[in-house]
Amino acid sequence: MSRHVKMDDKVETDRLDEMVQGLVGKPMDRPEGRLKVSGAAPYAMDALPLKLCHGVLVRGTIPAGRVVGMATAEIERLPGVRAVISDDRLLRHPAQGMAGKAPVQGPREIEYFGQPVALVVAETFEQARHGAQRLALQFEAKHVAPVNPDDKAAKVETPPKKQTSSGDLDKAMRQATSTVNQDYTTPAHASAAMEPHAAVAEWDGKRLTLRGSYQMLAYNRAELADALSIDEADVRILAPYVGGGFGSKLGISHEAVAASIAAKLLGCPVAVSLSRQNVFEMVMRRSETRQHIRLAADEEGRITGIGHEVLVSNLPDEQFSEPVTQATPFVYRGGNRVIGHQIARLHRTCAGSVRAPGEAVGMTALEIAMDELAEAAGLDPVELRLRNIPERDPTQDLPFSSHMLAEALKVGADTFCWRQRSAQPATQRQGEWLVGVGMASAARVNMLIESKARVTLSFNGNAIVETDMTDIGTGTYAVLSQVAGEMLGLPEGVVEARLGDTDFPSASGSGGSFGAASNATAVWLACEEIREQLCKRLECDPKTLTLKDGHAVIGNRRMPLADVLNGTTLVGEGHVEPGQAEEKVRQASYGSYFAEVEVNAVTGETRLRRMTGVFAAGRILNAKTARSQCLGGMIFGIGMALTEELIHDRRDGHIVNRDLAEYHIPVHADVPALDVMLLDERDSWANPLQIKGIGELAICGAAAAVVNAIYNATGVRVRDLPATLDKILPGLPN
Ligand code: MOS
Repeated sequence: MSRHVKMDDKVETDRLDEMVQGLVGKPMDRPEGRLKVSGAAPYAMDALPLKLCHGVLVRGTIPAGRVVGMATAEIERLPGVRAVISDDRLLRHPAQGMAGKAPVQGPREIEYFGQPVALVVAETFEQARHGAQRLALQFEAKHVAPVNPDDKAAKVETPPKKQTSSGDLDKAMRQATSTVNQDYTTPAHASAAMEPHAAVAEWDGKRLTLRGSYQMLAYNRAELADALSIDEADVRILAPYVGGGFGSKLGISHEAVAASIAAKLLGCPVAVSLSRQNVFEMVMRRSETRQHIRLAADEEGRITGIGHEVLVSNLPDEQFSEPVTQATPFVYRGGNRVIGHQIARLHRTCAGSVRAPGEAVGMTALEIAMDELAEAAGLDPVELRLRNIPERDPTQDLPFSSHMLAEALKVGADTFCWRQRSAQPATQRQGEWLVGVGMASAARVNMLIESKARVTLSFNGNAIVETDMTDIGTGTYAVLSQVAGEMLGLPEGVVEARLGDTDFPSASGSGGSFGAASNATAVWLACEEIREQLCKRLECDPKTLTLKDGHAVIGNRRMPLADVLNGTTLVGEGHVEPGQAEEKVRQASYGSYFAEVEVNAVTGETRLRRMTGVFAAGRILNAKTARSQCLGGMIFGIGMALTEELIHDRRDGHIVNRDLAEYHIPVHADVPALDVMLLDERDSWANPLQIKGIGELAICGAAAAVVNAIYNATGVRVRDLPATLDKILPGLPN
């Protein structure tokens, strides 16, 4: 019934190559695409029970301290208001996905401006919102509550496990022919998913069903059960459609706990939906970073030393710490290396995973520094990188599982016509626009997460895939249907993927770009199981069975699957787990970016003219959804380079730009036609299907290509992102 694979070693043969349906790799449309664009796909707040109450969260308005008074009685008398809930469980920030536990907070403790302190529940949303706005609160503020990374009162921790060094970097710097020694800063970022966080809770006796918008349902069920002190088996979470997560929905958020508590108390379903402002204030942000980078190179432009020392922040007691230097140990050669990590304890909204935690900002700063090193060494930036690709992981002395950075750099340079560039900055002018080009490498670690899936082949020859995996806009419905269709010989449209329900087998969920690979492997295993059952019926050797277009073919026999099944249904289950392969090789995905910008010589405004991204991420399951992921990644890069910045008020840490009008993610007018190329790669260490993660790869370094292009256009080196006009204008040539 069930097949299991633990990834302890490389897998040389790829079974998908033996299949003949021709679905995998094709640019197949999303099966749920029509539902989504026509508004028919039910997101969290689109499938409400007929009778329900609405809850609106009330936020604290001090950075740290306690709530000492709450005038609940007055609010409870308002029309329609059913309850004002100030349960302590509302205050705790649910744990960060994958890496942490809830912070230790006493009753009524406030840790950041905007933290929810109460929930007003009423018969209509408007009544609840009215009550929430009128609820009078009294606070006792803490005297010392640092909110800025440069605040002298901020406690700065230097976790010993996160400091590593090898060789002698200081000496390498002294002996180098060319060096870079600079500070780079990136601001806090918001995930800015389109669908605001929302949850609808309903109890049936002791069993809770929560409809919400989350990325990792098995983990979310455990979190919610823990927050409510109930048994996991009594919680069901449904999230069939998720309007983007980008890390902010890895874990449950306040609305899930609040809706569940209220629904239990009132004995009716309760919906809690965050306003856009709530999302900005209450949901994980990416930490701002300060990165001190040192690079040393010899006369040939070979890197001899790398230093990458970073400062990030989070709330007191939170475990998550932006893993800025994740790619630094292995991306370039050089024996002398210092990696340092510090975390400032600040009273700002909890920091967590946002769009490629780590490399998104770490590779960006490193790749700006690499551009500076190329100039110092008098080398072409592409050539500098080619000369510094290591043979083996230089820190752990491990082989790479597969490595296509060199090819990505060469293909990208050719496609973009990189060699036509002028190496001298500020020399290309067209009217009032200064034109320049820049490039950067991409690198992102690759992961496999335990996943299970069930596949059912029914008597009429249709198949159903079931897993609690989510599709957060990434294309899961498409790719899992494709893998099952390929394995069972079923054409497009015949396999139905059912996702987003914790009653289905538990999978990795969506995060860290591990979803497609982990889940496709589980589905593949389930299908192998079904194929074996078919072989038993057909009394044939598994090697001789061909499945195509709903038919089984063995030698010169060809029969419809429905005839083989003869009124019965076959079920297979698959289960994949990571194993020792992770320790035997260094596994990552690579790519390159090339960008052309024009900067207005009068105003300093930057416009992106064109951008090419070349990526190698193992086997590509769906050329269309994979490309779409890369487009999204590169667009994040454009935002990070030019506009995105979460601004905290220096006095109390409140988020000033807490909506999509003031927090600037790129819109259509900011994004020219982007060129994405996917290289043909197989990684036999990744999983039996040789797939690697792709979504986040395309953001890791993307912003650097744009910032480096600004330098080439203007001669202005921006080291403090985003590169807004005020930072460019003073340095422009007259
Ligand atoms: Mo991701 S930032 O692991 O959803």
